[in-house]
Amino acid sequence: MNVLLAGGAGYIGSHTCVELINTGHSVIIADNFSNSCPEAVKRVEKLTNTQIPLYEADVCDKEAVEKIFSENKIDAVIHFAGLKAVGESVEKPMLYYRNNIDSTLTLLETMSKYKVNNFIFSSSATVYGTPKTVPLVETMPTGSPTNPYGWTKLMMEQILSDTAHANPDFSVVLLRYFNPIGAHESGTIGENPNGIPNNLMPYITQVAAGRLEQLGVFGDDYPTHDGTGVRDYIHVVDLAKGHVKAIEYAAVNTGCEVFNLGTGTGYSVLDIVKAFEKVNGVKIPYVIKPRRAGDVAECFANADKAEKILGWKAEKNLDDMCYDSWNWQSHNINGYK
Ligand code: NAD
Ligand code: WQD
Repeated sequence: MNVLLAGGAGYIGSHTCVELINTGHSVIIADNFSNSCPEAVKRVEKLTNTQIPLYEADVCDKEAVEKIFSENKIDAVIHFAGLKAVGESVEKPMLYYRNNIDSTLTLLETMSKYKVNNFIFSSSATVYGTPKTVPLVETMPTGSPTNPYGWTKLMMEQILSDTAHANPDFSVVLLRYFNPIGAHESGTIGENPNGIPNNLMPYITQVAAGRLEQLGVFGDDYPTHDGTGVRDYIHVVDLAKGHVKAIEYAAVNTGCEVFNLGTGTGYSVLDIVKAFEKVNGVKIPYVIKPRRAGDVAECFANADKAEKILGWKAEKNLDDMCYDSWNWQSHNINGYK
């Protein structure tokens, strides 16, 4: 299939490009580089030995999106093009609502015009809000997200579900990611956050690289096995492979389906620190800090539905995730710069 990846130069998009190409699909990337750079695409081209049509475009811009659809035969769209910093979304809600929702509407309207009926959406476990019980199952009610970023995801799930309902030919797959970490085994593509990282693994790798002094562990008094927060970390390559399965599912189904993409196993912050130190032989100095506002004690997936229906299951373990994260960072101390 010919797949348009909106936001395909980013962390998850670049890894998904590799897996799509490796399974015989063709990709086209549209990205405005607001949180990425063309170098990531160059590296994907090198890894896959292909040339990727690349449009520097804001996918909220109707004319720019129209140009892409008029110049390419597109069978499916994967929409990664979102702003994703939780804290920033609290400070700049309009920016998040405008970018994340407008991009979705623009893509949908253009797809409708060009009769492209397959849409894969990057949703997030954040739509469950504060979990009442874990593991989280897709049938559980979506909660009240604790920040505007989370609300954009929930609103877009609604928009996409309504769109599929209104058009019997349309197929939407909502992928609720848990906590993606790791990098491609080549160490040539990986996560490259701007400024000081908000997320745990890039913070750890930057401490390991000497760019940051020590990790702050946000709370050690949660009701978890060691008091630190528990999450479902998933290797980004496993996550990327989930998109290949989702594309293939969308091609032969209609309607709107939602899948958790996680491993089903929760690890604490200190589990991650210890695994990282053991696998990589690097010390991660840390200090216990107060809890971070909005954090929950535990969040992990029941990923049975994806296994049963998509035939997808995460294959990589925590050691792989820690090894590959450091392999990427240690070979690219300043990311793509
Ligand atoms: P990322 O920032 O690395 O990738 C997003 C890409 O979209 C970037 O390349 C950015 O430049 C581009 N982009 C943003 N707005 C755009 C616009 N209007 N037009 C064109 N390009 C635009 O983030 P990621 O980690 O790869 O996440 C991809 C998607 O998955 C996002 O929608 C994010 O919300 C979602 N998600 C991420 C995580 C995570 O922890 N990384 C978890 C759950 C969901
Ligand atoms: C993981 C754990 C922290 C940093 C976020 C978004 C979510 C999704 C994934 C996009 C928690 C602890 C972290 C640090 C720490 N993104 N931590 N010190 O919060 O589970 O999820 O990213 O959709 O929507 O909310 O991920 O990596 O920030 O935190 O102790 O410096 O690590 O408290 O327990 P989170 P995270």
